[in-house]
This record gives sequence, structure tokens and C-alpha cells, in this order.
Amino acid sequence: MSKNVLVLPGDGIGPEIVTEARKVLDLINDRFALDLEINEALVGGAAIDATGVPLPDATLEAARAADAILLGAVGGPQWDTNPDFQIRPEKGLLGIRSHLQLFGNLRPAILYPQLAHASTLKPEVVSGLDILIVRELTGGIYFGQPRGIREKEGGIREGFNTYVYDENEIRRIGRVAFEAARARDKRLCSVDKANVLEVTVLWREIMEELGKEYPDVELSHMYVDNAAMQLVRAPKQFDVVVTGNMFGDILSDAAAMLTGSIGMLPSASLDENGKGMYEPCHGSAPDIAGQGKANPLATILSVAMMLRYSLKAGEAADLIEAAVSTVLDQGLRTGDIMSEGMRQVSTAEMGDAVVAALNA
Ligand code: NAD
Ligand code: IPM
Ligand code: MN
Repeated sequence: MSKNVLVLPGDGIGPEIVTEARKVLDLINDRFALDLEINEALVGGAAIDATGVPLPDATLEAARAADAILLGAVGGPQWDTNPDFQIRPEKGLLGIRSHLQLFGNLRPAILYPQLAHASTLKPEVVSGLDILIVRELTGGIYFGQPRGIREKEGGIREGFNTYVYDENEIRRIGRVAFEAARARDKRLCSVDKANVLEVTVLWREIMEELGKEYPDVELSHMYVDNAAMQLVRAPKQFDVVVTGNMFGDILSDAAAMLTGSIGMLPSASLDENGKGMYEPCHGSAPDIAGQGKANPLATILSVAMMLRYSLKAGEAADLIEAAVSTVLDQGLRTGDIMSEGMRQVSTAEMGDAVVAALNA
């Protein structure tokens, strides 16, 4: 039976990077006779402009019906001042994650050896880096109730959000992380703020409890402030990191820089059954949108993750990752990963080079 992939280009550099990823996906679809049916839909600012809302019903329905989703990025300054906070591009992305319960966010930070000099850290600090950040994606302070901005006595306004996780939410993301660690170097570091926040006292307790089921995995705990420091001090001490929604958001951007650029970091957001949405970890990069400067490799590597996790085409995923390595060997670099002696290319040239490497 043919499988169905929904493509959501989004805003800013989203359409540019998705165009390149689509070249790769179309080629793989033909080469491996995957018989994928690929459709596009609107999300984010593009959807607000066309329909008035960031997540039109038709898009949500198509997302539910899809076997896998590929997303570019959403957001941009033109929508940031919308007084109705529900009508923001980001709500489109958060809505898909939440409605589809894509709670398991895998963000692998892997340094391609060719990029050791593109990182702002010393090559010896990052060479051989291979970390997996497992971020809880449908709970925590992003979704906790109550939330809002209200007026208290004396007419003083206050903004408030709720950082809440129940034990089932913690357990299910914990399992994803323990299973991932088991398949890797068997070391799991759970990142929390259990010295201050009760919600993460419970988080730590559940991780400990789960650890008993995974005696082969070495479990450690770290406070998030120290984890941020350790990530830039000695990142290779980590194998798998598991953390909540907001800490994971922040730590994964920091981890991205270890790999040379946020333009290199792909992600998978999975539900209980392995259905997933795949997207680069970066945003819509309004500062470079429309200029052909964006690095499409994070999105292309997200296609590889999609093939591996949702479409059971691991061999095709391996080929894409090897093709990315080949173009880096060829010295091709977008501006964000450019270094001396390399050849700077545009978004489309980079995408075409990956396609050429796949065809070679
Ligand atoms: P950003 O990730 O868009 O950009 C941060 C910096 O990284 C910018 O200088 C940008 O040019 C650069 N950058 C990002 N991706 C790049 C790429 N592929 N190639 C080269 N350079 C790249 O973060 P921001 O500026 O904080 O956010 C911009 C908008 O994107 C906001 O509206 C934000 O809400 C949204 N956002 C969306 C997602 C998503 O859709 N998943 C993720 C993060 C931010
Ligand atoms: C990400 C982004 C999103 C997040 C925003 C755009 C809602 O930063 O995917 O990392 O905070 O999860
Ligand atoms: Mn983020």
C-alpha cells in the first residue's frame, strides 16, 4: 500500500530548504520505488495569510492522515505583533505536535569531521561528537494550564505559565530515551532543575524508577544550568540526554553549534507508534530568507530520519547521510558553515550537489 507524506514548507527560509529536501525525497522515492504519495499544505504564517489561522482544519486532517510529515520552519516578524496570541505561526507547529501527540523529539547532534573547523569550539573539543538529545515535546511549560496574562489587584498585569508533567508523560519520554541509549553507548543523562522545581523532582524520581528496568544503561542526572555549561565545556561526555520541553529547546540550539551550525541539525518528533514529523531544529531565519543563503542540510538530514523512522527505508537514509558527507568532502559550504579554502554555494547548489552525489 502506498504511503503518504505531507510536506509543510512554512515561512521564511522554510520553502527554500524544503524545495531542496523535496529534490532528495523525490529521487529516493523513484530509486527505491517507495510509491510515496507526496502532498503539500499550509502551516504557520503562510496559512494565516491565506486562511486567517496558523493550522487550518484541512492541514490538521492531512497531517493526521499522513504516514510522515516534513516541515520547513514557521514564523517571522510580520506575524509577531498579532494581538491574538492564538493567531501566531508557532501555534500551527505546536498544534500539530500536540494534536498528533508527537511527544518524542529526537535531536541528534553529530559532527561531520569535515566541519570540525566550522564549529566555534576548538576542533579537539568537538571532533567525534555524537550526542542525542531526547526532548519531551507535547507537555511541560509549553502546554501547561493555566496560562495567560491577567490583571491582579491594583491593576498590575502579570504573565503566567504552568510547568507541569504527570508521571505518565515522564515515563513515556523516559522510555524513548532509555531505549535510544540502549541502542547506543548505554549512557543516559537526565537534565532537570530538581534543586528548585517540584515538577522535576518527580521527573528525577520517575527516571530513577525506569532505570531499574534498564540496568544495562548508566543513568546520571544533571541540573540544566550545569548541563548548558558542560555542553560547551566537554560535550563528548554525553551520549543521550533526556529533558523536558523548554530545557530541550534551549540545549538543542546550543548543541547545534557544536556541529558547526544550526543549519546541520535535523529532528524527528514521534508518537507512540513511530509516526512522525521531521524538521530541522532551526527556525525560519528571517534575516537570510529569500536570499539563497540557507543551509538545506538539516532538512535533507531530516528526510533521512523520516525514511529511517517512519518509512522503514533505512538503506535510503544511509545513502542520504553518505551523500551529505560527500558534498562536504567536495568542499561545498553554505555561508553558515563556510571556512577558509572551501567553496561557498547557495541553498539550491547545495541541494543539487546532494542529488548529484546520490546519482553518482
Ligand atoms: P532561527 O533559527 O530562525 O535563526 C537563528 C540564526 O540562525 C539566524 O541568524 C539565522 O540566519 C541562522 N540560521 C537558522 N537556520 C539556518 C540555516 N538553515 N542556514 C543558515 N543559517 C541559519 O531562530 P530565530 O531567529 O530565533 O527565529 C526566527 C523565527 O523562526 C521566529 O519566528 C521563531 O519563532 C521561528 N522558529 C521556528 C522554528 C520551527 O519552525 N521549527 C524553530 C525555531 C524558531
Ligand atoms: C523548535 C522551535 C519551536 C519550539 C518554536 C518555533 C515553537 O524553537 O522547534 O525548536 O520552541 O519548540
Ligand atoms: Mn527551538
